[in-house]
Order: sequence, then structure tokens, then C-alpha cells
Amino acid sequence: MPTAAATPSPHRPPGPRGIPIFGTSFMASRDSTGVLERWAREYGDIVFYQFFKAPVFVLFHPQHVEQVLLGKTANFTKGMTSLANPELFGNGLLTSDGEFWRRQRRLSNPAFHRESILRYSEITTEEACRMLAGWKNGETRNIHNDMMNVTLRIVLRSLFGSELGESMRIIEPALDAIMAASSGFRSIALYLKLPTPSRKRHFRAVAEIDRVVYTLIARGREKLNAADAQAAGAKDLLTLLLTARDDDGNSMSDQQLRDEVITLLLAGHETTALNLSWSWYLLAKHPEIEAKLHAELDTVLAGRMPNAADLPKLQYTERVIREALRLYPPAGFNNWTSMDQNLKADGASPWQRLKERFPGVDDPTLAWAWEMASHPTYGTINCMALNEKGEISGVTTTSGLAWKIPGRVGDSPIIGAGLFVDPDVGGGGSTGVGELNIRVAGGHTIVESMRHGMTPKEAVLETLKRVSRLYNDDRKILAKLDIDFYALRKDGEHAAGSLWGGRGSNKNYSVNDGGESRHEPCVFLYEKTA
Ligand code: HEM
Repeated sequence: MPTAAATPSPHRPPGPRGIPIFGTSFMASRDSTGVLERWAREYGDIVFYQFFKAPVFVLFHPQHVEQVLLGKTANFTKGMTSLANPELFGNGLLTSDGEFWRRQRRLSNPAFHRESILRYSEITTEEACRMLAGWKNGETRNIHNDMMNVTLRIVLRSLFGSELGESMRIIEPALDAIMAASSGFRSIALYLKLPTPSRKRHFRAVAEIDRVVYTLIARGREKLNAADAQAAGAKDLLTLLLTARDDDGNSMSDQQLRDEVITLLLAGHETTALNLSWSWYLLAKHPEIEAKLHAELDTVLAGRMPNAADLPKLQYTERVIREALRLYPPAGFNNWTSMDQNLKADGASPWQRLKERFPGVDDPTLAWAWEMASHPTYGTINCMALNEKGEISGVTTTSGLAWKIPGRVGDSPIIGAGLFVDPDVGGGGSTGVGELNIRVAGGHTIVESMRHGMTPKEAVLETLKRVSRLYNDDRKILAKLDIDFYALRKDGEHAAGSLWGGRGSNKNYSVNDGGESRHEPCVFLYEKTA
């Protein structure tokens, strides 16, 4: 059992204890997603912790999340993180609740009608083209900066029509300051109202954005009052919100408009930029997926610009975007306050559940099983053997089988990569970065090299060279890669090799000739000098 756990009470799910008075919060960590993953593994579907006086329940099970978001909305109100920043979000859609939220949602409906979406998609394509026109072949760019910039232009133009220039110059740095203040540990300082420099910058930035938005609202009202404005058919989101009326004919006040506009600006900007940045990152790591994506775009668009009507046909593209959303959710944590504490009923600890599930198993055995399940051993092992009759067998077990990180390519299921054995020649195996191994078909390459006369050592080095060539022998990139190859020839000669050796990074492999096992040094392609 994890030792750091707060003792579960009959009414409380287990969770981290944290430090006295302060308690804890996953937001205090630079790797908040990693912390949540660990908690889910260690404590189960519902994790409890205390943040100062606030009791927090973290829900991991999809059914529990659904229950909060869709099932019993009346039992929950928006949680503390969205309410922690009232000067920024005000009472917009993201933070409002109940009847007021319902009214605002209805008033905002025209902004999400089909014609509006078509207009936003035109703006999106125009801005994407504008961005691409500024790129030069072969230059290195900070892709996330580009995505932040282009999504900001898209959301601003969708909101305000063509009023970009001056507003963009003020809003872009102001948003940077706001995001810096509300990320990670700084968000806690903001919530606790600690007088930090980032908190000061945050308030200055909110005031600047307010000034721009109120000016644009005033200009929008003037345009609407001008005789020909409606005839000209202004289609931007602000105009739609300005003209929206509820059942009693009431419209939004300037302040409410400001809250909704800023909510849309913030909700629609960084989320989409993050999703795009992660999608490019993943595509760069998976060229075969990138090729399929381009194939679909070439087929559906045949060289023309995309529009909203193409979306249903771009199914592979959608799957790529969804996978990036799943692996790297831009808005991964959602915060709600329960009105009736109805989560307790499901809060049995994993330990209690294990005991109920396996009533006949003694505690030490269950504890061992729990430890294995909470802290699984992972890694890949290649093992090859030759018996006295000259028969060769081999196996590459991959951690992928039981503890696969979603989306990661395991090597052993690919024939010829993680393992290849030919009884006439010998065997080849590999461990390390599965994607690389698949690209050089490591096991197969080793066996074929030996078939053509190379020694096991030469065959291993030849396969490592192929990995190196994938990156034009660029040692800066190769320094980050970890891959090992193993060879066993039919006559019993063997070798193993790694991309890097030297400077304390030399690797060994295990050998057994029937007596005591021993380690032998791996050969390596490049020597570490620093
Ligand atoms: C990849 C892109 C996006 C992601 C991952 C995302 C995610 C989310 C999440 C998790 C919520 C909270 C749902 C809840 O608590 O019930 C939300 C709410 C919201 N989002 Fe997004 N969002 C994205 C893009 C956008 C865009 C482009 C806009 C508009 C320009 C937008 C506007 C809103 C609004 C207005 C709400 C509040 C809805 C309500 O409560 O009525 N989002 N979004």
C-alpha cells in the first residue's frame, strides 16, 4: 500500500495527505497531469485531498465525470478555479450558473448557428494562409508561438470583424501576462490573492483588455445605430451578441457583453492553439500518420482551400485532432462544486474494493498484488537461446503488452523488428525506442546481415548505422535516442550494441553458457565525450 496515503475514513476516499494547514493541490506541480496519473494509479477512481479548508474530490472514472457534467447538473455549481478569477471572466458563460447561465446560453445561440460557423471557417482559412505566406522554407520556428498568434487573430476577427491592428498589439501581450499568472503554482498565488509581481501584471493586463473590449463594444453599438449598419449585414460575433434579445426583449448590458466577449476570447484562443501545437508535434513523431493525413487532404481537397462543408469528409483528419485532444487535453481539469456531497457513496478505496473482490486472499498477498498493480515494472527484454542441437529460439517481451502507454508503438508485435529468428542463420533482437526499431526492422536486418557474412558484432553495428542514417547522422538528435540490438549466430557467437557508449554510459548484456551468468560489454556506435 502507498505509504503517503491519508488514512481512508469510511466516508472519505483515499488520497495524498499534503502538508499541514496548506494541504496539497496537483496544480502546485509543474507536471500536474503526471501527478494526477500517479494519484489515479495509487488511490483509485476517486481521490480525496484537502486544499487549505476546501475538501477536493478528484474524479477519474468517465461515468463519474459524466454524472457531474451531464447527469445531475443541478447538484453542481462551477468550481473554485473558474470563480477564482472574477475580474477576468466576470459572469460569462464559463463561470455563470443556473437560470442566468441558461438565459445567456440562449442569447448566445446565434453565435453558434451554421452561418456563423461558416463565417468563422472562412476567417480560419484566410488567417492560416496569411501565416503560411510568412513562413520560409528551411527556417526554424517556434510552432506554439505561431499557433497562439494565428488562433488569436482568428478569434479576434471572429469576434470583432476586421478591427484587428491596434487591438491585437494590446491584447496579445496582455493575454500572455494573464496566462503566465494563471498557470501552475502562480495560479495558486492568484487564488490566494498573494501580492506577487505576476498578480500585479495580471491586473494591469485585465485592465488593458477591458479598455480595448469596451471601446470595441461602443464602436459596435455606434455602427448598429447608423442607418445602414444592419443592411450592410455585419456578421461578427459581437454584432450577433449586441443584437440578441431574450424572450422578454431584453438585450445584454455593456458589462455582460464584455464578460461574454472576454470568455470567448480566452476559451477559444489557447485551447485551440494547444491542440494544434500538440497535433503538429505528434505528426512530426509519426510520419506514417502524417502521410495518411496528407493523402486524405489531397483526395478530398484536390489542391483547393478547405471550407466548413469539407469537414464531414475529412474523417482521418478529425481522428488525428481527436487523438491529440485525448493525449494532450488543452482543458484537462474541470472544476465543479458539489451541492449535496453525493460522491461519498462510490468512494470505496481500492484496498477495500480489492478485499471485497478477493475475500479468500490473505492481506500480504493482496498487498503484494496491489503494489505490483500500482507500481508496475516496465521495460522491454530480449532473450535468445541456442541449445546443444543447434536450435535457436527467441522472445522480445514488451512492456507494451500489459502497461502500454496509450499511443506508443510497441516493437515486438511487428514481425522482424523486435525479434527475428531464422534457424539457418541466427537471431536478432532489439530493445529501446520501438518506433526507431520498426523503421530499420532491427531483428530482420541483423539476421540478414549475418546471412551475408557479417559477424554478430558487425551486424549489430550495421543496424545501429541504419538508425543513425534516419537522422542524417545528426548526433545532437541521436544523443536523445536510446536503442539496443542483440545478435546470436547459429554457431553460438553473440554480440549486443547500443548507439552510445563511453563516459559512464557503457552498457552490458547478460550471457549464460550453462553455468554462472555473466555480463559482457555492448559495442557502441558513438562515444560520449561530455
Ligand atoms: C480544442 C479546443 C477547445 C477545448 C479543448 C475546449 C474545452 C472546453 C471545456 C473543457 C469547457 C468546460 C465544459 C464544462 O465545464 O462544462 C469549455 C467550455 C466553454 N468553451 Fe471551450 N474548448 C475549446 C474551444 C473553444 C472555442 C474555440 C470556443 C469559442 C470561441 C470555446 C468556448 C467555450 C465556452 C463559451 C464555454 C462555456 C460553455 C458553457 O458553460 O455554456 N471553446 N470548453
